Amino acid sequence: MRSTFLRLSLAFLFVFEAAFATVLAIDYGSDWIKASLMKPGVPFDILLNKDSKRKIQSSVGWKNSDRLFGTDAYNIAGRFPSDSFSSLKYLLAAPYNSDATSYFTKISTANVLKSPRGTTALRRSEGEEWSVEELIGMQFAYVKGLAEDLAGEKVQDVIVTVPPFFSQFERDAVADAIEVAGLRTLALINDGTAIAVNYAMTRSFPTPEYHVIYDAGASSIRATVVQFTSDGTGKSGATQIQVAGVGYDREVGGTELDRRLREILIQEFNGKHQKDIRGDKKGMAKLWKEAGRVKAILSANLEAASTVESLAFDIDFRAKIKRSTFEDACSDIKDRFAKPISDALEDAGLTLHNITSVILAGGSSRTPMIQSAVRSAVQQEKIAMNVNADEAAVLGAALHGASLSRQFKTKDIKVQDISVYNIQASYFAPPTSSQAMIRTINTAIFPASSKTGTKKMLTFKRTEDFSLKLQYKDIGSPGFPVDILEAHISGVTAALANLTERGAIEPVVKATVTLSESGFVTVKDAHAFAEVKDDSLTGKLKGLFGGGSSSADEESEVPDTSTSSTQSSPPIPSDIPAAEKKLTLKESNTVPLDITLSFLTTPPMTIAEKRASRERLRLVDYEESAKQRKEEARNSLEGYLYRVRDLLDDSHQDTPFKQCSQESERKALAQKVSETIAWLHDKGDLAETSQFWDKRNVVEALERPIVHRYQEIEAFPQALNISQMWNWSTRLFLTEAYNNLTAEAEAGLPSKWTREELEGLEKTLKEHESWLHEWVDKQKSVKMNQDPVIQTTEMKARAKTLELHLQRLVKRKIPKAKKTTPSATPSSSPKETPSTPAAEPESTSAASSPPSRDAHDEL
Ligand SMILES: *[C@@H]1O[C@H](CO)[C@@H](O)[C@H](O)[C@H]1NC(C)=O
Ligand SMILES: *[C@@H]1O[C@H](CO)[C@@H](O)[C@H](O)[C@H]1NC(C)=O
Ligand SMILES: *[C@@H]1O[C@H](CO)[C@@H](O)[C@H](O)[C@H]1NC(C)=O
Ligand SMILES: *[C@@H]1O[C@H](CO)[C@@H](O)[C@H](O)[C@H]1NC(C)=O
Ligand SMILES: *[C@@H]1O[C@H](CO)[C@@H](O)[C@H](O)[C@H]1NC(C)=O
Repeated sequence: MRSTFLRLSLAFLFVFEAAFATVLAIDYGSDWIKASLMKPGVPFDILLNKDSKRKIQSSVGWKNSDRLFGTDAYNIAGRFPSDSFSSLKYLLAAPYNSDATSYFTKISTANVLKSPRGTTALRRSEGEEWSVEELIGMQFAYVKGLAEDLAGEKVQDVIVTVPPFFSQFERDAVADAIEVAGLRTLALINDGTAIAVNYAMTRSFPTPEYHVIYDAGASSIRATVVQFTSDGTGKSGATQIQVAGVGYDREVGGTELDRRLREILIQEFNGKHQKDIRGDKKGMAKLWKEAGRVKAILSANLEAASTVESLAFDIDFRAKIKRSTFEDACSDIKDRFAKPISDALEDAGLTLHNITSVILAGGSSRTPMIQSAVRSAVQQEKIAMNVNADEAAVLGAALHGASLSRQFKTKDIKVQDISVYNIQASYFAPPTSSQAMIRTINTAIFPASSKTGTKKMLTFKRTEDFSLKLQYKDIGSPGFPVDILEAHISGVTAALANLTERGAIEPVVKATVTLSESGFVTVKDAHAFAEVKDDSLTGKLKGLFGGGSSSADEESEVPDTSTSSTQSSPPIPSDIPAAEKKLTLKESNTVPLDITLSFLTTPPMTIAEKRASRERLRLVDYEESAKQRKEEARNSLEGYLYRVRDLLDDSHQDTPFKQCSQESERKALAQKVSETIAWLHDKGDLAETSQFWDKRNVVEALERPIVHRYQEIEAFPQALNISQMWNWSTRLFLTEAYNNLTAEAEAGLPSKWTREELEGLEKTLKEHESWLHEWVDKQKSVKMNQDPVIQTTEMKARAKTLELHLQRLVKRKIPKAKKTTPSATPSSSPKETPSTPAAEPESTSAASSPPSRDAHDEL
């Protein structure tokens, strides 16, 4: 009910959108992908897959050479355990030697390799290797295809949800997969925040409210404390969403429960049959699927029967699993299910008292074990199930994407998110003396819970080029690197000399570090800066305001306090007094410096790598469409052959096909058809697309004369009718025109035509008549199963020649000399006669409109 209402009201909101833009939103989960398309004229809803399902299994796979997606790809794991790839989200940017990768190898039967970038790739059974970004890129491209089918146009911009704890490496990997798919990253949005946007869409908050979005997914559990505030009242007012705190656990979630349940099944099997199924990939893949099924049954029942036919070693597996056994196996992690809620509250500096509700979302929020953990941590009345657990994130992401693209009129919702890790800058202190040890200075730039979409300026007293490293203080994911990037700032010496030459006092280097809304940190801008000695009024004012700047001493190599929104463009340190601000704006006081970024650990894909991956995907697409074209050519040939064979079989009766064909022709055709059918069966599988069309052409060449005869017989009466019509009209016209010419000559009146002109038309008419006479006669003696001696196309062309000649004379204007010319009597004139030819498709030119029109208009 609720979600229907929601969809209806959202559809209403988008009635008024103005410009044309299409935004695709993807909620990329470890188990399921949900997608939504935002396009004017298309009802805002979840994108359906080819089976009209609202969610798509996050799987890609191959059945021999056929690539599969969704459930099809997931379901083949039992038969092709090395060719079915699921749960790939775990591997995003994961170093080969990391806990994330070793966990993946526990849950998956896929072959994991080390990629050239130190991350992971997967190898199919036939040897081909695909990076994680490529495989996820294929899934994004698949969703893109669904969206384009619905939109009826290219879709380019996409917003993708990510867990708030995703590091820059993982965010880069998502963005790379998006580009590999041929899409453009509009933004990444934290999934809890996306759910908050969805929640705010239909609500207003006259007094500020705090809610916890509790999102239990397959690969992790997240809690996000969000403050909602509305200005004004009603739906028209703007709503602010401010993320206040985040808590998460990357090790518990639906997948870990599946894994533990599969452990129970493994023990059952191994215990009962004294064999180890762990070595059997197919068996393990089948048990993985079975574990998911049994878990779902145990959500509603205290006991579940597990049966897998021929699980491994030709053994049919049967076991009864009790919910209590399952829960016992998970007892050690029970306390972790609700902990993200208290972590998030602590992060926000709040307690449950401050919270209006805990909103449950995510597929695993339905698991009884997880629900009861939340229920024992949160009072029942605060637990809310008022968003669609599966779809709120993607719908919220789509709404946010639409507002970012500014092409849609949406409810005004401002989002302020935070980043969860401590991000610091690390650099070497300049040596104070030649003996001094090189010191590394680490400065917190964006401490945990910093707002995203902000920037900070760092001030350095340097005389030479130097490097600045951005790193996570601690990322909490064993095996993941902490160093994000290094920015080498160059051109310092020359820039300082330039400023000094212009009379600078104590020049410094300033670098701007940004943290984008999508959670990416980078060094955006660096320049040398100085106050220039100034005797002008401004310079004197400076002294008056006592703006003795503090930028000089070594201790100032810490970020100044200026944190400004990225929208305000000129980087002005905020601790400088007002009068000086004006001065610093002067171009002459700054010299831009060069920044070279490099990646010390897991780099994002380079442009060349992304291009190469995109090419690989294109090649797969191309091969698939070539295969599809071949399939079509084959089906077309096959269908055609059987149609012709049926015509031949029918021809013992008096069908038109038989009437229009000769025995010998039917024999030749039958021979060719059966020969081609045989070829199709024997060689069809190895044939090229063009061969199917060539074979079809050969048979068609034999059939075509028969079809042609039939068509000519059908078309002949009408063609003859047209010919006679113009023949007759012309004759009528000539008779009358000769009479008038004679009468006018006798009366000394001017005529429209000369006698020669009328004789010219008469000649054309006679030629037409004699041609028609001769050939219609000949045609009459042609049998139905013989080729016609005249073609209807020629008849029509000749009639047209006559018609045009006639029209030329009919359209002639009446000479001006006399005004006493009496009016026409149309009924007896040829003017109305050509109405039938005028209705002919060929007669659409102005010349073919009934002659009466022009003649009449002249009067
Ligand atoms: C949270 O609740 C506490 C105690 O109920 C109260 O003192 C505090 O002001 C509240 N904080 C906010 C931000 O509402
Ligand atoms: C100093 O830099 C400015 C702009 O960056 C440039 O136009 C000027 O020529 C430079 N002057 C010297 C002396 O290098
Ligand atoms: C020829 O055309 C006239 C006028 O449209 C129509 O009445 C007549 O039936 C047609 N004859 C044939 C053989 O099509
Ligand atoms: C052409 O029309 C004239 C006059 O109606 C008629 O006498 C003649 O038989 C027609 N010719 C043919 C070949 O239809
Ligand atoms: C012949 O003259 C009559 C009377 O003037 C006129 O109505 C008719 O349209 C003329 N016919 C032709 C073919 O011009």
